[in-house]
Amino acid sequence: MASTVKTSTVNAPRHFLRDDELSPAEQREVLDLGLAFRSNRQHRQPLAGPQAVAFITDKPTLRTQVSFLTGIAELGGFPLMVDGSLAQIGVRESIADTTRVLDRQVSAIVWRTYGDDRIQAMAEVSRVPVVNALTDGFHPCQILADLLTVAQHRGGVEALAGQTLTYLGDGANNMANSYLLGGATAGLHVRIAGPAGYQPEPSIVEQAAVIASTTGGSVTVTDDPQAAVTGADVVATDTWVSMGDEAEAAERQSPFVPFRLDAALLAHAKPDAIVLHCLPAYRGKEITAEVIDGPQSVVFDEAENRLHAQKALLTWLLSEG
Ligand code: NVA
Repeated sequence: MASTVKTSTVNAPRHFLRDDELSPAEQREVLDLGLAFRSNRQHRQPLAGPQAVAFITDKPTLRTQVSFLTGIAELGGFPLMVDGSLAQIGVRESIADTTRVLDRQVSAIVWRTYGDDRIQAMAEVSRVPVVNALTDGFHPCQILADLLTVAQHRGGVEALAGQTLTYLGDGANNMANSYLLGGATAGLHVRIAGPAGYQPEPSIVEQAAVIASTTGGSVTVTDDPQAAVTGADVVATDTWVSMGDEAEAAERQSPFVPFRLDAALLAHAKPDAIVLHCLPAYRGKEITAEVIDGPQSVVFDEAENRLHAQKALLTWLLSEG
């Protein structure tokens, strides 16, 4: 996995490409701001003018598009939707040239794309904040929303540290990587349970462990779903077939069956454990209908919290730049 983009120049913008680009204190600031936006959707309007923010997507989207476009408008700005299939960034025009066109007109760029090298190339030249709205490697805005959801249900941001969050399924995908880095930053005990061959890259696990050693959190990777769920405060899962992995859909079934989040597996978690899923969900595959539609599921709070978390992130990034 390529390294974090450095922003050392005094007036350089802050980007958000990976979860570990926010320090623990910075992440707390963003989450506190997210709770403030949750209480009052008009809490701040840093994009008043309106200033435009570009939202570009090269992959399918619903929650991400709706929450960013709504959020940019609620921040007083103009949500500028750019269709990635028309823009063909990196094909019709270089990523650098596209970025130089955009950053003279917009106050931030939000991009959902494939390789992390693509969004890193944009951040290297952009004079405005670049935000990762999902890449193959990371989904850091989703993890901010997930942390906000845990804070909402556990009594605030200060209650996050020490919570145990178990993620079941594809341990090598963007959600697993972001739970590792973002969860460790929040001081969570992060457990990733996936079948052999679908476990996180050692470099990500090592980076998460370094962060966890400073926050009181911890990181565990296992292929034992029951051990991973036992005693958990939060149980999360995601599709077994991420966007871009569709050609492997058939082979990505049987290895994952033991990691399906059903009522029997959830029963090993704490009785008041909450269930997260970034959606879209495939009932009967990675999660049963009984669980996702059951009393422990907070997946629609989680989806709503994309709005509040991303408004907080944009506000924070613009104030730092
Ligand atoms: N891991 C999934 C997340 C979808 C929001 C994917 O990348 O398709």
